[in-house]
Amino acid sequence: MIVLGIETSCDETAAALVTEEGEILSNILFSQIATHQSFGGVVPEVGARAHLTYLPLMIRQALETGGVSLDQVDGIAATCGPGLIGGVIVGSMMAKAMAAFSHKPFIAINHLEAHALTARLTHKVEFPYLLLLVSGGHCQLLRVNGVASYTELGTALDDAVGESFDKVARLLGLPYPGGPEIEKAARLGDPYRFKLPRPMLTQKTLNFSFSGLKTAVRHEVEKIPVLTDQDRYDMAASFQKTVTEILVTRSLQAVEAYPDLKRFVMAGGVAANQYIRGHLEEALTQKGLTVLVPNPALCTDNGAMIAWAGIEYLRLGKTHSLDFDPRPRWPLKSLT
Ligand code: KG4
Ligand code: ZN
Repeated sequence: MIVLGIETSCDETAAALVTEEGEILSNILFSQIATHQSFGGVVPEVGARAHLTYLPLMIRQALETGGVSLDQVDGIAATCGPGLIGGVIVGSMMAKAMAAFSHKPFIAINHLEAHALTARLTHKVEFPYLLLLVSGGHCQLLRVNGVASYTELGTALDDAVGESFDKVARLLGLPYPGGPEIEKAARLGDPYRFKLPRPMLTQKTLNFSFSGLKTAVRHEVEKIPVLTDQDRYDMAASFQKTVTEILVTRSLQAVEAYPDLKRFVMAGGVAANQYIRGHLEEALTQKGLTVLVPNPALCTDNGAMIAWAGIEYLRLGKTHSLDFDPRPRWPLKSLT
């Protein structure tokens, strides 16, 4: 079985072919970062137009690189939400049109579910598992029971974790997207220089709050008359360390609350961060958990994760009708 996956929910225009055995035949991606960088973040309208321009090319390249014709594809999967609706409409309409004229099944993929299932593509992880989903729009702890079955244990009450990386980078004058820039800058910095708050961490909840942390960074930055590169490095390191402590503490609490779960997956763009990954692995391995994180290129948005989610649905015989509406919001817990 081979599925074509299409991803257009944010600023990556991507298409990929993945087999039922988990072989990635092709994984083609056009990053719109340069298009959006001068605006300091993703401009939805600009993004949607760029998806329209580049998606046909990505799909053609995915098929050519994979050495597969559309006839040989068993299903066409596309992100149908959540995300920037203009982009989601472009990708889902393209997939539906291709499914219609090639008489192939169409699979409407929830972008968050695609992140959640990627570790099954890369590490063949079995259900159930604990999941820390950390991306530009989300920060959640979930119990993954199976395909389309999620129990939300905790969620971000304000800024998502990736969003806080992006906002802090902006405060420091670092380019968009902030996550990789902060990680790079932090390698040269002193993580102990700035004492930053850990909002809500003493409260008995699995929810997250990052907006107070971002505000604290702004106050510290405002105290410095002229920000030097070393100030930037030190703040990046202090911020990254604080975020890591928050994520690790909450993950340990989730592990304690659900002792039956022995596998722990981290996924989403922020999971590409090697510092966070290292600390999470260290803390959870000590508690006897197996920690699984897809490689960085499969943590950030890509087409292979959509194609793989398509495989998961198709082998359960689940497909969607062509009148499935694209959704700007589509929480994982609503899939069940
Ligand atoms: O999953 P993703 O590619 O798109 C969404 O679904 O949101 O995540 C993008 C987010 C951005 O906020 C970006 O700054 C963050 O992931 N990110 C990182 C790193 N790479 C990407 N955050 C921290 N460290 C990184 N290395
Ligand atoms: Zn994503």
